[in-house]
Amino acid sequence: MEGEIEDGMRIYLDHNATTPIRPEVAEAMSAVLRDDYGNPSSVYAEGAAARARVESARAQVASLLGAEPSEIRFTGGATEANNTLLFGRLAPGDHVVTTAVEHPSVSEPLCLLEGRGVRVSRVAPDADGCIGLDAVADAITDQTKLVSIIWANNETGSLQPIEEISELCRVRGVPLHSDATQAVGKTATDLTLVPVDFLSSSAHKLGGPKGVGALVARDNAALPAFLHGGGQERGLRGGTENVAGIVGYGLACELALTDLAAREESCGKLRDRLWVGIQNCVDDVRWNGDRARVLANTLNVEFAGVAGEVLVQTLDIEGVAVSAGAACHSGSIEPSKVLTAMGRTPEEARGSLRFSVGWGVDEAQIDRVIALLAELVPRVRSVEAP
Ligand SMILES: Cc1ncc(COP(=O)(O)O)c(C=O)c1O
Repeated sequence: MEGEIEDGMRIYLDHNATTPIRPEVAEAMSAVLRDDYGNPSSVYAEGAAARARVESARAQVASLLGAEPSEIRFTGGATEANNTLLFGRLAPGDHVVTTAVEHPSVSEPLCLLEGRGVRVSRVAPDADGCIGLDAVADAITDQTKLVSIIWANNETGSLQPIEEISELCRVRGVPLHSDATQAVGKTATDLTLVPVDFLSSSAHKLGGPKGVGALVARDNAALPAFLHGGGQERGLRGGTENVAGIVGYGLACELALTDLAAREESCGKLRDRLWVGIQNCVDDVRWNGDRARVLANTLNVEFAGVAGEVLVQTLDIEGVAVSAGAACHSGSIEPSKVLTAMGRTPEEARGSLRFSVGWGVDEAQIDRVIALLAELVPRVRSVEAP
């Protein structure tokens, strides 16, 4: 029930990791799984019905993105979209400009490509996680074949100046790709207003299912297929379409478009309530990022002197899901590359937590989290203190 926290009820504040599926989406997908088992490539009625569903979802996704349906190729998520783009566009000897705050689905393929002779310039963010236009302009050379810049950062929510960067790339004649996975459905990503050449998106970040996404290419001829097979997606992506997932993605996009501005406003209010509450109840906290250029749903906070992974576990026991600014790899704690690129020390990054709100979160839940932090942060600090 809204406004009350029932015993055993979880509070999910990790919408940047994944969003709970919207009930209408789950409903629509179940109907497809149950009734529409046809293969979209089949020529008889069952196939035609599945094809019609895929094409209507393509129109829904295109509409949210301000793109033409023919520019959308469905993928198995944003990781595949990013790999398709980077491996499709870059060859040994090419130069690419990117940032030091990309998601691993961009930074890891670029490391691999670097090993094969692609030259990579990584523009560093400022202390608030923002990429400067001048730094991008300075990094572009006559050999630059691509600029790839994340639209909104998954850890801090920092919004990059994609509109200005797209204008810069147009003037310099260099194609621009943006990994807009965190931005799509959370803020406006209308390609009629911000003309990027390639864009990646993923359904599970906006109330849709996992394992489906899209790559927008304004010119399909400029980007060959990555997966070769039966010629699906007009020869642009082999493999039988994930019809139920695509239908769910389409509907999630339609829902996002319907109430985008209202959701941005309500998420912003919840996020700000959380930040004010944290500041009032907990000492030595800092917002990681630029409050004027950030996704409305995201708050990344450094709790000085705290082991973030311990606080995450303690909150989990209390029924709250959030993310830490450090990940455990093979038994050792690795600080966030995004926060360290912003100049945070490994200890500062370790003490940082990401809170990301979305549909289903209400004020009572936020207040409960504030009260828990007021109690738990000093406790975790005292354990940590030498
Ligand atoms: C910015 C960004 N890009 C790409 C991805 C990868 O998306 P997917 O899970 O659809 O492969 C994520 C997921 O966390 C992300 O946040």
